[in-house]
Amino acid sequence: MSGTERSHFELHGEEPTCSTGGVWLSCIACGEQFPPFETVRYVCDDCDGLLEVRYADLPTWNDFEGRGVWRYDAALPFESGVSLPEGATPLHDVPRLKSSIGVGRLRVKHEGMNPTGSFKDRGMTVGVRVAEQMGVERLACASTGNTSAALSAYGSRAGLETLVLLPQGKVAAGKIAQASCHGARILEVDGNFDTCLDIVGDLADRGDVYLLNSLNPFRLEGQKTIGLEILEQFRDEEGSYPDRIVLPVGNAGNTAALYKCFRELVASGALESSDVPKLTGVQAEGAAPMVEAIEENRAETRRWESVETSATAIRIGNPVNAPKALPGIRETGGTAAAVADEEIQAAQQELAREGVGVEPASAASIAGLRTLREEGVVTEDEEVVCLTTGHLLKDPDAAVEAGTEPETVPGTTPGVRDHLGLE
Ligand code: F0G
Repeated sequence: MSGTERSHFELHGEEPTCSTGGVWLSCIACGEQFPPFETVRYVCDDCDGLLEVRYADLPTWNDFEGRGVWRYDAALPFESGVSLPEGATPLHDVPRLKSSIGVGRLRVKHEGMNPTGSFKDRGMTVGVRVAEQMGVERLACASTGNTSAALSAYGSRAGLETLVLLPQGKVAAGKIAQASCHGARILEVDGNFDTCLDIVGDLADRGDVYLLNSLNPFRLEGQKTIGLEILEQFRDEEGSYPDRIVLPVGNAGNTAALYKCFRELVASGALESSDVPKLTGVQAEGAAPMVEAIEENRAETRRWESVETSATAIRIGNPVNAPKALPGIRETGGTAAAVADEEIQAAQQELAREGVGVEPASAASIAGLRTLREEGVVTEDEEVVCLTTGHLLKDPDAAVEAGTEPETVPGTTPGVRDHLGLE
């Protein structure tokens, strides 16, 4: 990305005439500005660049009150939304992992504790509110599973029709069960996630559906609140801001959302630029186009046509938010790492043994931190937050595989005592 293009990442409060209530859309590539709710658009009319939501007024810490995502309404386009409610997730201490990895502090922000069990709920509470504003009837997404579960729940709650496109045979059972039970129409596509997104993008361009993938800039506004919560919780409990936030990366929407959170806080004066945590993305080795782009210092990712990992949530070869997320990783002084599926499973087990149940993709953050610590990229005094994005029960098959084997015993107390070797 050239210096000129990067300047469009700078936030300034000059309100254009196309704004509605101090909110507008801006293209991150060419800077063109658009009204937020007049017409449905996901990318720039002029250059196809990604869009960002911009605000005339950016809040500081004193402007927030309440709990969960809508505590941060001053940083969002609306004061309320379709809510279940979401956010206010725990920031766990994991003392055994902290000492075995060897960092100054380690906290785990467990987004699996959201209503449908993943961070996607934060995006949907805002995204579905915008869909209501736009007056659309049918919502759709491509998904590796969690987005579909969240869309189905929030869309149905709003009384809207929901359509989800999933890569056949590659979505964890819990997620399909959720999408199905919450009432989505589920299409299993003969192709991977990227193919699903190509198709649903075409449907959205034709006006057949309203797209609620993270290409939709409003969804990322909701996900921004993860960053706000982490900073507030960490500051209140640890007395400082974390040096680094480590997160799993698929479509790179969350990385983009966190970067936007930090930029807005710096622009409003709520955060010193020296206090911005280093954004550190982790991918599975079999699906690591972002890691490749960071390592090869490329401005864009190369689309991986063939991807494979047991962490199916991040089995993605064409991260559409890379133009927002790569600058986020670079500008914050962060990095990216790839981890093997075995390392992901080991991290899932370690987290589970500390009582924190996460799905495989989520454990990639811990596995990545361990790798970067071993390589000396992360130092022993660093204060780190790892993001765990989805709940253990999302992927029951992976959980059973990572767990212990049940033992068969007779249906009598002496039989059980005998089996346990008790005298
Ligand atoms: N972790 C989990 C559990 C996810 O479900 C996802 C994405 C990610 C991490 C990656 O987040 O895309 O913002 O970089 N899941 C999407 C879905 C693709 O369809 O549920 P990202």
